[in-house]
Amino acid sequence: MAGLLELYADRLPFAAGGPVITLDEGSTPLVAAPALSERVGAEVWLKLEGLNPTGSFKDRGMTAAVTGAVREGAEAVLCASTGNTAASLAAYAARAGIRGAVLVPEGKIATGKLAQALMHGARVIAIQANFDVALDLVRELCDREPIALVNSVNPLRIEGQKTASFEIAEQLGPDRPLDALAIPVGNAGNITAYWKGFHELGLSPRMLGFQAEGAAPLVLGHPVEHPETIASAIRIGKPARWEEAMAAMTNSGGIVRAVSDDEILGAYRFVAANEGVFCEPASAAPIAGLLKYGVPDGVERVACVLTGHGLKDPQTALGASGSVIPCAAELDAVRDAVLG
Ligand code: F0G
Repeated sequence: MAGLLELYADRLPFAAGGPVITLDEGSTPLVAAPALSERVGAEVWLKLEGLNPTGSFKDRGMTAAVTGAVREGAEAVLCASTGNTAASLAAYAARAGIRGAVLVPEGKIATGKLAQALMHGARVIAIQANFDVALDLVRELCDREPIALVNSVNPLRIEGQKTASFEIAEQLGPDRPLDALAIPVGNAGNITAYWKGFHELGLSPRMLGFQAEGAAPLVLGHPVEHPETIASAIRIGKPARWEEAMAAMTNSGGIVRAVSDDEILGAYRFVAANEGVFCEPASAAPIAGLLKYGVPDGVERVACVLTGHGLKDPQTALGASGSVIPCAAELDAVRDAVLG
């Protein structure tokens, strides 16, 4: 399997022959979700972005952004992050042999993501402020210093991430057009990228964006100064791509809606227990949205973007699931534990 810059070379802005920083990202499964389909009353598909090399969709944008940075001679890449961008940046910077640094909100990063960023050798810098403040700081620093900014304000991130739309269209084929896409919205880069990808294909599924109730600036119509949600990946109050995201939803006949943390956790458990798919809490927001609001009239087929793997956040999973059964090392006791 080749990486995205090779697979979609004709639709991405990279001259042939230069260095490519890749971990063979992309080409993720699109699986049917029969239990969800029954509950929602439409054909629901799950795009498993957690199966990218670092466990989230960020790798699609990072292969493009880090390749671009290397081609421009950058010696360091930097981002603000709620965790996944940090993990992805760290891996691709390691691959490229350049310095990676990430600015994160202290204590608000899921354990797996932190472990990844540290293992890949990035400088992990924690501030006592939220993602929005971190993004303002890295933007200013990158304006002043020769450091490449690889947040999704970088257009190459959007270019890389739009390939997910190409894949969904290929996976469903021309006879099964997508009526809607359900997707979590944080900094709003991914919904912007999906819409661009569909637009380039001449497709126009309704873009259904979902935010956590405590971090729902697009739903409220104003920034949220102190965003809060259990879905730490989308704990964002001032999305950088606000206008683009709203345009994608408006122009496609879609909508942005909020779901509560309880609804997110319910959807998180539902998809794990009934579809065999373990995603992280933020990724369960669109599932919660479909379960709560159903699909708009006329929507028969909807794809749900499961942006990150459940293993990213083991702490939330352990808190949201059943407990381990203690048992004597003896056959009868084990039989009772299994069958009782
Ligand atoms: N889902 C997950 C698992 C994420 O990590 C993110 C964003 C989103 C959804 C929202 O995507 O920002 O493009 O609207 N995570 C960023 C990060 C902010 O730093 O990892 P978006």
